[in-house]
Amino acid sequence: MNATLSDQEFELFKSLIYQKVGITLDTPKKTLLVSRLGKRLRELNLSTYKDYYDRVSAKGGEEELTKLLDLVSTNKTDFYREPVHFDFLRDRVIPEMQTTKTLRIWSSASSSGEEPYTIAMTLSDAIFDMHRWNIKILASDISTRVLSKAASGIYEDERVSQLPQDLVKRYFLRGNGKQAGKVRVRPQVANLVAFRRINLMDPTFPIRNPLDVIFCRNVMIYFDRPTQAKLMEKFFKYLRPGGYLFIGHSESLQWIEHKFTYLKPTIYQKPEA
Ligand SMILES: C[S@@+](CC[C@H](N)C(=O)[O-])C[C@H]1O[C@@H](n2cnc3c(N)ncnc32)[C@H](O)[C@@H]1O
Repeated sequence: MNATLSDQEFELFKSLIYQKVGITLDTPKKTLLVSRLGKRLRELNLSTYKDYYDRVSAKGGEEELTKLLDLVSTNKTDFYREPVHFDFLRDRVIPEMQTTKTLRIWSSASSSGEEPYTIAMTLSDAIFDMHRWNIKILASDISTRVLSKAASGIYEDERVSQLPQDLVKRYFLRGNGKQAGKVRVRPQVANLVAFRRINLMDPTFPIRNPLDVIFCRNVMIYFDRPTQAKLMEKFFKYLRPGGYLFIGHSESLQWIEHKFTYLKPTIYQKPEA
């Protein structure tokens, strides 16, 4: 069986995905959708894309919808990706919080966990009296698949092969036996991070205390401008005055309306009250 995806069906998926996650699929993505969904159709023994669409959009289709979102989203990430933000944490944010010794950081599209664990390692390296601090790192993503990978804290060796060896020793345990070729984030780092599923399209987020820093890197690029603007408004609300927002290096707030102060490329601040 070789199902074809008509333009009309593509439009159906496109608006469903836009409505649920804010991701805009442009026409070149049609080929990607066909190749990724074709396999899923065969696994489910469905003969048309419309059958699949009906299944994911029907009541009770949430679980399959999560799988569909996994197929269309990109989860690429790395430890210490775009290091300017971790340097900024160390050199500016931590010194500012020395008096209160509290830090609330949200990695809002955390993918498989490399970003929030890098935040935790940066803090552990820079703060000598960690036991006296109240630190919470919330890591969230829409994809349950990447979140469970993240929560396991287990990675293939090569994911850390480019990092300084003394850092790997400090923050990872090497697997042996069945776990040979893998590393696991040490509990002292893993315990600083809490994972949960949050869709950035939700009107409100399950966050009670004002945040000091929000990482929203390499996800906005998939959203259109009105969606980005709405997200910036929500982030503004959840940050404390003086709190920081980090975005990805190929992203910019230049073309959207927002209330943040620009500090330097990819780093923004909520003005002090
Ligand atoms: C390319 S990864 C970025 C990972 C990390 N922030 C980094 O810069 O290395 C993008 C992540 O955004 C997630 N994502 C896409 N749409 C989302 C949404 N509406 N809400 C929350 N996460 C979303 C994807 O599942 C994916 O894991």
